[in-house]
Amino acid sequence: MTEKFVAAIDQGTTSSRCIIFDQAGAIVAVDQREHRQIFPKPGWVEHDATEIWSKVQAVVAGALAKAGMRADQLSALGITNQRETTVLWDRATGKPVHNAIVWQDTRTSALCAQLGAEDGQDRFRNATGLPLASYFSGPKAAWLLDNVPGLRARAERGEIAFGTIDSWLIWNLTGATDGGVHVTDVTNASRTMLMNLETLQWDSSILAAMNVPEAILPEIRSSAEVYGTAVGQLAGVPVASALGDQQAAVFGQACYDTGTAKNTYGTGSFLLLNTGGRPVPSKSGLITTVGYKIGDQAPVYCLEGSIAITGALVQWFRDQLGLIRSSDEIETLAASVEDNGGAYIVPAFSGLFAPYWRSDARGVITGLTRYVTKAHLARAVLEATSWQTREVVDAMYQDSGVRITTLKVDGGMTVNRLLMQHQADVLGVPVIRPKVSETTCLGAAYAAGLATGVWSGLDELKAHWQRDVEWVPEMEAGPREREYENWRKAVERSLGWHEEDGA
Ligand SMILES: Nc1ncnc2c1ncn2[C@@H]1O[C@H](COP(=O)(O)OP(=O)(O)OP(=O)(O)O)[C@@H](O)[C@H]1O
Ligand SMILES: [Mg+2]
Repeated sequence: MTEKFVAAIDQGTTSSRCIIFDQAGAIVAVDQREHRQIFPKPGWVEHDATEIWSKVQAVVAGALAKAGMRADQLSALGITNQRETTVLWDRATGKPVHNAIVWQDTRTSALCAQLGAEDGQDRFRNATGLPLASYFSGPKAAWLLDNVPGLRARAERGEIAFGTIDSWLIWNLTGATDGGVHVTDVTNASRTMLMNLETLQWDSSILAAMNVPEAILPEIRSSAEVYGTAVGQLAGVPVASALGDQQAAVFGQACYDTGTAKNTYGTGSFLLLNTGGRPVPSKSGLITTVGYKIGDQAPVYCLEGSIAITGALVQWFRDQLGLIRSSDEIETLAASVEDNGGAYIVPAFSGLFAPYWRSDARGVITGLTRYVTKAHLARAVLEATSWQTREVVDAMYQDSGVRITTLKVDGGMTVNRLLMQHQADVLGVPVIRPKVSETTCLGAAYAAGLATGVWSGLDELKAHWQRDVEWVPEMEAGPREREYENWRKAVERSLGWHEEDGA
C-alpha cells in the first residue's frame, strides 16, 4: 500500500499556512506567510482578498517544495479559514469589489443596533443561534451593498458573488472565472447570520430584513465532501473539506463526543463545546453554531464562547506599547513577579464578545498604583486571557449543564506555560495540550481525508490524538474566587465607554 498524504490550507486572520500531513496525522511540511492588516479608521479592519489568494498560492508551493512532493501525490486538499470575514467579488472578472471586511471590524455596530431596534439584540437568535453583533458576515455584506456605489444593482443582476474566505478560496482553486464552484460549508454559513440552524439553508426572511439579495450567495454544502477539482498548481487534487478555523480545531482535537470541548488561543480565543445532534440555545451569552457535518450525515452542533482579543493583547503589548520585543518575552517578564500587583487589563478593543456582546465596551487598565510595574502588567495581559476563558466556561455550564472536567487547548499562546498554569488554576480543572498543536489545519485535513477515503472514520482519527503536556490546578479556591471578583469589577469599568454605539 502506498502512503497517502493530505494537504490543508489554514487561511487565518494574521497569516496563511499550508501543512501536508501523512496518514498517521503527522506533519510532513509547513509553510506560512503573513498578509497586511489594513486599519482605515478606529475600529475598522480590512484585508486585501487578492493578496490573501496570492499568499495562499505561495504557501501551497512552499509546503510542496519543503516536502519534496508533487501535487499529484496529494489525495485531497482541505480548507479552513478565519471566519465571518466577508468578500464580495465580480463573477465576470474575479476581482473583489472592495477590501474584505474582517470579523473584528466594528463598522456595522450602528446597522446592528438599527436591526435590533424593535425586537432587540436577539431578533435572529432563534433562527441563527447568534445575537446581533458587528462580528457576523450578513451585516458586513449589507454594508458593502449600501456603500460601494452601484453595487446593489449589480448584485441584484447576479453579477456579484458573496463569500467568506472559504468560498473565495474554493472558487479560485477550482477555476475562478473559468468554472470556479461557488459554495460554502455549513460551519462558515452558520456565522453569516443568514442561515437557519435547523434547515441549514439561507433564511429568506432574514435576507429580506437585512436586504441581502439571494443571488449573491453560495450554495451551502457539508464540511466534508468533494466540492470540485483544483486547477493550476494543484491540478487534479480534490478540494474536499471546508470548516471555519474554530470548528476545524474541534475536529482536529477529536472532540467528536457530546460534552467534549477545546479552547484555541490565537488572535482571540474560542471555546467550543460539542453538544451533539441538536442545537442548544444559549441564555448566558454564548452562541449556537454548527460544529461540523460530514457528507450526508447529520450535523453536529456546538455552543461557542467567542473572545475577540487574547493573543492580540500580547501583540499590542509588544508592538503598540513596546514593553517586550518578542511574544515569548512576556513569559519571562511576567515570571519576574509573583502576582499582578492588583492590576487588571480588560482588552475590549472591539467591544466585548461572549458572554457580554457589548459594542459600547472599550479597553481599560484598572487597579493601578505606584507599586505596579511593567512586569505586573505583563501578568495582567496573560491573566486577561484566562479570566475571559473562565467567564465563558461558567456560561457553558449555565447553558448546557455540562461541567468541563478537562480542557483541551491549542493555538499559539499555549506555548506559554505560565499562562496555561494560570488557566488551569482559575478553571480548577486540568488543561491538556496535544502533540500536534496545529489542530486547525489537522481538522481540515481530517475532514478532507474522510471525504476521499484516506481515513475510515472518526474512531481512526480519535486514535491519532496524543497528549503532550498537562497542567493541573494549584490555586486555592479562596484566592481564586477573590481574584475572579476583581476581574468582574474591572469588566464593569469597561462597559458603556463608547457611547455612540451604546444607545
Ligand atoms: N509565548 C507567547 N506567549 C503569549 N502569547 C503568545 C506567545 N507566542 C505567540 N503568542 C500569541 O499567539 C498568537 C498567535 O497564535 P496562532 O499562531 O495560533 O494564531 P494564528 O492562528 O496565526 O491566528 P489567526 O488564526 O487568528 O491568524 C499571537 O496573537 C501571539 O501574540
Ligand atoms: Mg489560527
